[in-house]
Amino acid sequence: MLKLERLFSKMSKRMKSSIIRELLRDATNTSIISFGGGAPDPETFDRNTLARLSQGVLIDEYPISLQYGATEGDPLLKDELIKILDDRHGIKGLKHENLLITVGSQQALDLMGRIFLDEDSYVMVSHPIYLGAASAFRAYGPKFVTIDLEDDGLNVNEVERALKKIDSRGEISKLKFIYTVPNFHNPAGVTMSLEKRKALIELAHRYDVLILEDDPYGELRYEGEKLPDIYTLASGEGVVLLNTMSKVMSPGIRIGMIAGDKEIVAKAALAKQGADLCTPTFTQRLVARYLHEGVIFDRIKSAIEIYRKKKNVMLNALGKYIKVSGAKWTKPEGGLFIWVTLPKEYDTMKLFEKAKKVGVAYIPGTAFYVDDRISSNMRLSFCLPPLEQIEEGIKRIGKLFD
Ligand SMILES: Cc1ncc(COP(=O)(O)O)c(C=O)c1O
Repeated sequence: MLKLERLFSKMSKRMKSSIIRELLRDATNTSIISFGGGAPDPETFDRNTLARLSQGVLIDEYPISLQYGATEGDPLLKDELIKILDDRHGIKGLKHENLLITVGSQQALDLMGRIFLDEDSYVMVSHPIYLGAASAFRAYGPKFVTIDLEDDGLNVNEVERALKKIDSRGEISKLKFIYTVPNFHNPAGVTMSLEKRKALIELAHRYDVLILEDDPYGELRYEGEKLPDIYTLASGEGVVLLNTMSKVMSPGIRIGMIAGDKEIVAKAALAKQGADLCTPTFTQRLVARYLHEGVIFDRIKSAIEIYRKKKNVMLNALGKYIKVSGAKWTKPEGGLFIWVTLPKEYDTMKLFEKAKKVGVAYIPGTAFYVDDRISSNMRLSFCLPPLEQIEEGIKRIGKLFD
């Protein structure tokens, strides 16, 4: 009998099943109102336009759309993305060699881990952190340096202290990058202020550390002023930008991107070759044609209307039904998540079982900490449930505290 345990690599042993997946597996029955996953509302998917364009992409462009493609990505899609990065993000002068098309930004996170992280590396991350980033990086065995999040983003004083400490030990070269989600953080919902973006760049440049900026939610702003990307503020110097079509078009098409220094992009392309040869050519060309139609920002506008309403209904319901003294929650200006903080005595993992019994699901905060601590936080996503269910769902959460 083959002893599989002996065969599995060290890397495979570091991998953990996503707690979100585990928790939500049995929370999928229809009587449960789920604030769990971060899946977009399917009503935001522009299926008619995509159906029409698919026909042309398949019939007229089959030698490309049904064939292998370059690992680096479809040149037409890159042209479209470069235009958007210029128009919407003020990123000038990007060339094809500065872009890699990936299978969602999740693959981009994995590729960043693959090309930068060794077992003796450090990676600086926010606490809480996007779970998918933690899983992607963890596989490569680095040590996490965790920095608290504040209402206006990463605690940059803490970043500075941590950098000083690592530097004083002579280990700064082992710190590979600072990972940050500056807009409408997943799970915390907070946005990094302009001052902090600038301070982070100054620190990263001073200590010669890369910033990895992950921005899936930036276009989903419901209130307030758009802030410049860290990438733009730094003129691309020492910053890698990840983006994705998942939250603004469709997660099922699995199109993401890495923008950055051409040497980094080339190394990531090399790593991608061994993983999947290329991103599906059909969806790349479909997205290229879709972006060329120029309708995406109108579509995003209507998605914003849907999500803004849902977010406001959830915030109002939280005020009405969560009567726990000391409880608070973020009031995000965009994105898909609200982060609830309860008094310390509550363990939201324990509460989760009770929540399922009353027919509501959320993600316990512990999922978003690399040290698996007990957490009194919960992440609530307002994107997927129908508007009418949101108030009822929060009412059910409120009942947990009666
Ligand atoms: C912060 C962040 N980064 C990356 C991703 C991955 O998205 P995708 O692989 O669908 O592009 C997500 C998805 O929820 C996310 O929230």
